[in-house]
Amino acid sequence: MIQPLIWENDTLKLIDQRKLPLEETYVEVTNLEECFDSIRVMVVRGAPLIGFTALWGMVLDIINNPTYSIEQIQKSAEYLKEARPTAVNLAYEVDRAVAIAKEDLGSYEKNLRKFAQEQMDLLHENNLTMAKIAQADLEKRFGDKKLRLMTLCNTGALACGPMGTALGVISHLASQDKIEMVYASETRPYLQGGRLTAYELIKENIPHKITVEGAFSYILENKLVDAIFIGADRIVSNGDTANKIGSSSLAIVAKYYGVPFYVVAPTSSFDMASKTGDEIEIELRPEDEILNALSARIAPHGSGALNPSFDVTRAKNIAGIVCEKGLIADPITTESLTKIVES
Ligand code: MRU
Repeated sequence: MIQPLIWENDTLKLIDQRKLPLEETYVEVTNLEECFDSIRVMVVRGAPLIGFTALWGMVLDIINNPTYSIEQIQKSAEYLKEARPTAVNLAYEVDRAVAIAKEDLGSYEKNLRKFAQEQMDLLHENNLTMAKIAQADLEKRFGDKKLRLMTLCNTGALACGPMGTALGVISHLASQDKIEMVYASETRPYLQGGRLTAYELIKENIPHKITVEGAFSYILENKLVDAIFIGADRIVSNGDTANKIGSSSLAIVAKYYGVPFYVVAPTSSFDMASKTGDEIEIELRPEDEILNALSARIAPHGSGALNPSFDVTRAKNIAGIVCEKGLIADPITTESLTKIVES
């Protein structure tokens, strides 16, 4: 089983996702600053895993600074939030750490350690629940046939701990021999699909092909895919969903060709305080991620690059949003979403 995050002897060990699949090495994180950097430079990535990493970062911070006041803990939380702005899980988890400190500062370290572990265990349970909900909806549409599914970015164990969200659905179906083919979109420029999703699919022996984002229209027009599954970095109250750059283009093409497009995410990825996707801050990442490949310059010197890391898929282009509390669909509205998420 892939273990992207290990908490051992008061040290956080993160598999270095920048080096996968060629090298399986771990980076050791022992303080808040190292935690910030590992999130920022994407040693660790994926909305839920960023959230857990930040929680363990808060644990390390109090271990290193046992006399911290609430204000100092709050300052550390605000600092970590700056590492990556779009995935709401990061802010959600560190805010919960601060709430635990406010409840009982004397027992904060002990309570936070327990909480961090519980959250990781709970996510696995939630991922399985979501996979079953998605499977039930797929069976309504397609009966018992083996499916050809497409996914973008990496939403598997490397992004969430055990199982994964959208990739968790795929892995759950594969465990019952219900997958004919998975198309993993490469996901330029960090190649979460081509490197990380493919790495997980290989480990699980699931048939797959890597594609480029430019092939969306070709693939869907030629009816190579039955349904599409992606994860989410932030779902706002009307169902608009921020996810890896390319998700919105894929959803628009999917709608055009009548292919159902699903979002799978735990309720920790929902931001009910924001009304529409226009309120989501989209992270702009360094130009070098596009201008270089494998640390070598590939673009002419003098060229610049625009590198938005996420885009917003509008709710009207989503067939269903699956969370651990149920399926939001037909139609996705603020009312239907609130009813399920707050149930
Ligand atoms: O930039 P990344 O790799 O952190 O982006 C990850 C994604 O966009 C995932 O699809 C999302 O976080 C969901 S992970 C279950």
